[in-house]
Amino acid sequence: MSKVVIINHPLIQHKLSIIRSKETSSKEFRELVQEVGSLMTYEATRDLEVQPVEIETPLAKTIQHELKDNIVIVPVLRAGLGMADGISDMIPHARVGHLGLYRNESTLEACRYYAKLPKGIEKAVVILVDPMLATGNTVVSAVDIIKESGAKKIIYVGLVGVQEGIDNIVKHHPDVDIYLASKDERLNEVGYIVPGLGDCGDRLFGTK
Ligand code: URA
Repeated sequence: MSKVVIINHPLIQHKLSIIRSKETSSKEFRELVQEVGSLMTYEATRDLEVQPVEIETPLAKTIQHELKDNIVIVPVLRAGLGMADGISDMIPHARVGHLGLYRNESTLEACRYYAKLPKGIEKAVVILVDPMLATGNTVVSAVDIIKESGAKKIIYVGLVGVQEGIDNIVKHHPDVDIYLASKDERLNEVGYIVPGLGDCGDRLFGTK
């Protein structure tokens, strides 16, 4: 069964409230989304396995611990890019794949237009990044594609979600753990999260 974690750390709450404000510029929005991505990584990677490794400090040999699995970060284009930068700041050795999925605005179904996933993904732990968990259709489709590539362990990280989206992921992919910075009230009639933060892609890239 999916683990569902709302990471309500004070710093994340503080930054998220600025991200939500309609007065926040694209530049500040991008910086803050990246910072929240970095902060959330700390909690979202808590269950990663480590293995012993022998190293030599300037003083002695010692057994320490390193990450057991390779990590692949997969942002959903284009809104996932900002958070993914923050996650990759924390795990610089992770490879990055990209999935292009757009929402059909009338059916709210996810349509795939691009997929480039790194070699070796089948043995890696995948961190799937899509900031807005609305109906959950995009994340469910993204997990379908990632699983087709052979990956077994997938962690989903988003910024703001609603219960409907969480339920959709848990129903289709109960093996995927879910990390969000906030669970919001509801979806409006056109599938936007309320109170939310508006269109994340547009706000990141200043396209509206
Ligand atoms: N995508 C967004 O960018 N915002 C929402 O509120 C829902 C989906």
